[in-house]
Amino acid sequence: MKLWGGRFGKDMDADVSAWAASIGFDKLLYKEDIEGSIAHAKMLAKQGIIDGGDAARIESGLLGIAEDIEAGKVSFSDENEDVHMNIEALLTERVGEPAKRLHTARSRNDQVAADTRLWVKNDILEIEGLLAALRSALLGIAKAHTATLMPGYTHMQHAQPVSLAFHLMAYYEMFLRDSARFWDVYGRTDVMPLGSGALAGVSYDTDRRYAAELLGFADISANAMDAVSDRDFAIEYISAAAICMMHLSRSCEELILWSSQEFAFIEMDDSFSTGSSIMPQKKNPDMAELIRGKTGRVYGDLIGILTTMKALPLAYNKDMQEDKEPLFDASATLKSCLSVYTGMVGAMKIKPDAMAAAAKKGFMNATDAADYLVSKGLPFRKAHEIIGKLVAYCVEKGIALEEAELPLLEQIAPEFEEGFFEKIGLKACMDAKASQGGTAEARVLEEIKAAEKR
Ligand code: ARG
Repeated sequence: MKLWGGRFGKDMDADVSAWAASIGFDKLLYKEDIEGSIAHAKMLAKQGIIDGGDAARIESGLLGIAEDIEAGKVSFSDENEDVHMNIEALLTERVGEPAKRLHTARSRNDQVAADTRLWVKNDILEIEGLLAALRSALLGIAKAHTATLMPGYTHMQHAQPVSLAFHLMAYYEMFLRDSARFWDVYGRTDVMPLGSGALAGVSYDTDRRYAAELLGFADISANAMDAVSDRDFAIEYISAAAICMMHLSRSCEELILWSSQEFAFIEMDDSFSTGSSIMPQKKNPDMAELIRGKTGRVYGDLIGILTTMKALPLAYNKDMQEDKEPLFDASATLKSCLSVYTGMVGAMKIKPDAMAAAAKKGFMNATDAADYLVSKGLPFRKAHEIIGKLVAYCVEKGIALEEAELPLLEQIAPEFEEGFFEKIGLKACMDAKASQGGTAEARVLEEIKAAEKR
C-alpha cells in the first residue's frame, strides 16, 4: 500500500504508478532530503512535538540510510514514487514507530521545495569552483600573450589590432559576470520553505528559524503558499546556466574558426580532438563543437521549466515534479562543459606567428592613420575621407598602408610626414588604445593584475 493509501479502495495501476514515479531522477536529492528530515526531526523534538528519543532514532536511521545509499546498497522502488517517500519507507522498515512521526507538521510540498533549494545551493558552490578554475586558465594564457598581436574583428572583418590577452580577457569578464549571477541566484535560493506544510502553514508550534539554522538557510519564507509553489530559484539557476553556456559557446565558435586552415591561430591538443573514419588527415575540434551544441540543450531546459510553470494555479501541482529533469540536466551539462572547456583551452597550442601574419592584412591601422592626420590639425571626418581614399588606392595596388611612399602621401595631404609610419605600426596602434579598458599592453596588464587580486 502507498504511504497515502488510507482512503483508497484499491491499489494504483502498476504501470501508471511507475509512469508517474519520479524516483528515477529525484533520487539525486537523497542527501538533501535526509539532511532536511534530520533538521525537521530535531526541530520537532526541541518543540516537544515528538519525543527526543524518537528524534534520535530517526536521525541515526537516516544517517544509516545515507551511508547505504552511498555504498550502493539501497534499491529504490517506483511503488514509493519519489525520493521522499522512498526514504521514509526505508526509515520505517529500519526504525519502526518513530519513523511514522517524522512527517508531523510537514508536507512533501514544503519538503521537496526545501530539498531542491539545498541542492541548488550546493550545486552553485560547485559551479563557482569550476568557473574560478576556468578563469584562471584564461588568465594564465592572457599573461603570456599581452604582446601577441591578432586581428580584432567587427562583422568578422578585420577592424583594429588587439592582443590575444585582450581578446581572452573579454571572456574572462563574461565568466566573472556568470559567477556574480550565480551568487545572486544563491542569495534568493537561500530561503527555507520547510514548515510551510502543504500550502497553508501548519497547526503545530514549530520553530522554523531553528530548522533554518540547522540547514544553513539564511532566511525563512514569508508566505507558505508562495513557498510551496515557487520555482523561481530553479528558473533563475537554469537561466544563469544558459547564459554561461552561451558564453562558452561563443568562445568555442571562435576556437573552431581559429582551428581552421584559413585562420590556423591555434591547434587543439590531440587529447581534445578527434579524427575521421574516412579522411586520414582530419583533426577535428569536436569538443568545442559539442560544447557549442550542448548550449541548445540548456536553452531547452530553461524553456521547458518556464513553460511548465507558466499556467500553474496556486499552490502545488504535480506538474512541478517536471522541474527536476531540466534542473539536473542543466547542471550536469554546464558542469561538464566548464571542465572540458578549461582543459581544452589549457592544452591548446597558440600560434602567434599566424595571428601576427593575419593582423598585417586588412588595413587595421587605418583608424590610427586618420588619428595621425587629426593630430596634425585635420578634422576627423576629413581625415577619415583621406585615409579612405588612400585605402582604396592601396587595395588597387595590392599594398598595405605602410607601403605607400611618402611623396605620394604628401601629394594626397601635406600633413603626412616621416613620423606617420611609426604611428601606424600595428603594435603602436594597439598600444595607442590606452583608454581605460583598452587593448594597450599596459592597460591589459592592469586588467590582469586586478583580476589576479580578485
Ligand atoms: N515528487 C514530488 C515532486 O517532485 C514531490 C511533491 C509531491 N507532492 C504532492 N502533493 N504530490 O513534485
